[in-house]
Formats: sequence, structure tokens, C-alpha cells
Amino acid sequence: MAETIKVLIPEEDVNARIEELGRQISKDYEGKQVHLICVLKGGVFFMCELAKRISVPVSMDFMSVSSYGDGTSSSGIVKIAKDLDESLEGKDVIVVEDIIDSGRTLSYLLEILKKRGPRSMGLCTLLDKPDRRVRDVKVDYVGFEIPDEFVVGFGLDYAQKYRNLPYIGVVEM
Ligand code: PRP
Ligand code: MN
Ligand code: MG
Repeated sequence: MAETIKVLIPEEDVNARIEELGRQISKDYEGKQVHLICVLKGGVFFMCELAKRISVPVSMDFMSVSSYGDGTSSSGIVKIAKDLDESLEGKDVIVVEDIIDSGRTLSYLLEILKKRGPRSMGLCTLLDKPDRRVRDVKVDYVGFEIPDEFVVGFGLDYAQKYRNLPYIGVVEM
């Protein structure tokens, strides 16, 4: 089965915006080391591209969470499937996500991670769908605010497909 994907944000625009975010983060964290946390799997493409554009020292870690719900929306019950390898004690942490939708994944995750003693905790997302928010999440860096459409690409999947598209697309079914 093949869906049609319509381009929502072209590759050049995504890359240009990530460049700006990298510059902004480099400025905000001058003199510090940034510890980026990727929320797998969706966050992986964005984190790698972002990390290349940050000029202060960067370290990276990965975690994987799964939320149990009805399949199309998350339930708010989040389970850690793969935890971080390293401690967050004293680190300037930025959690990197591909999208914040209901906000359930991130509000839960941030609560857990804040208890691990980071010096600071920031949140950076490539896409934000504010219309869908059910949990308040304070986002420090947003690539693009988007309308409530089913988007894929740059890490975002539809049934695990299309994560590798170098642009943001909308699935037309
Ligand atoms: C997606 C997306 C975010 C989360 C956002 O991940 O990558 O992590 O949902 O939704 P929320 O704000 O409503 O919690 P998903 O659970 O699909 O896993 P994946 O990253 O492996 O695709
Ligand atoms: Mn995800
Ligand atoms: Mg997904």
C-alpha cells in the first residue's frame, strides 16, 4: 500500500531552520557543554543534524520510551524501553524531540529526568502541534509550529515508514 506524501516543509527550509536553532543554542550555552538527549526513534535525525550545528562542546545520549494507547494517540502512560547510559548529574541537558503533540510523552519524561540532578533542563523540538496539547509543556526551542495534520519525515513515521524522508510531508490517505 502506498500513500501519497505532500511536501509541507521542504528540505531546504528544514535545514535552514536547524542551522538557526544550532546557532541560537550555541549562543545560549556559551562556555558550557550541552548534553543532548535523543528520544528514540523519532528524535534521531533531528538530533544528529542539530548536533552538527552546535559550536559549543556536545555530548549525546539516547533513550527510548513507549506509550500505550489506542494506537493513534498516546495514553499518557509512558514506559522506559531503553534508559540513558549516563547520569545527568550537573549536566546542562537538552531533550531533543521530533514533535510535541499531546505533550504526554514529554511531560512525563521531563518529570523523571529532572529528578536526576541536571544543572539545567531544556527542550528542543523540530515540530510543535499546539492545537493538540493536553499537557502543558514548556518548550525552549521550536523549529516549526504546524497545524493538526498527520506529518512524516525527518524522523516522523507512519507505521514505521517515511522516517528517512529529508523533508516534512503530510500523508494523504
Ligand atoms: C511520537 C513522537 C513523540 C511523541 C509525541 O513518538 O516522536 O515522541 O509521539 O506525542 P505526544 O506529544 O502526544 O506524547 P512515538 O511514540 O510515535 O514513537 P517513535 O518516536 O518511535 O515514532
Ligand atoms: Mn517519538
Ligand atoms: Mg511514531
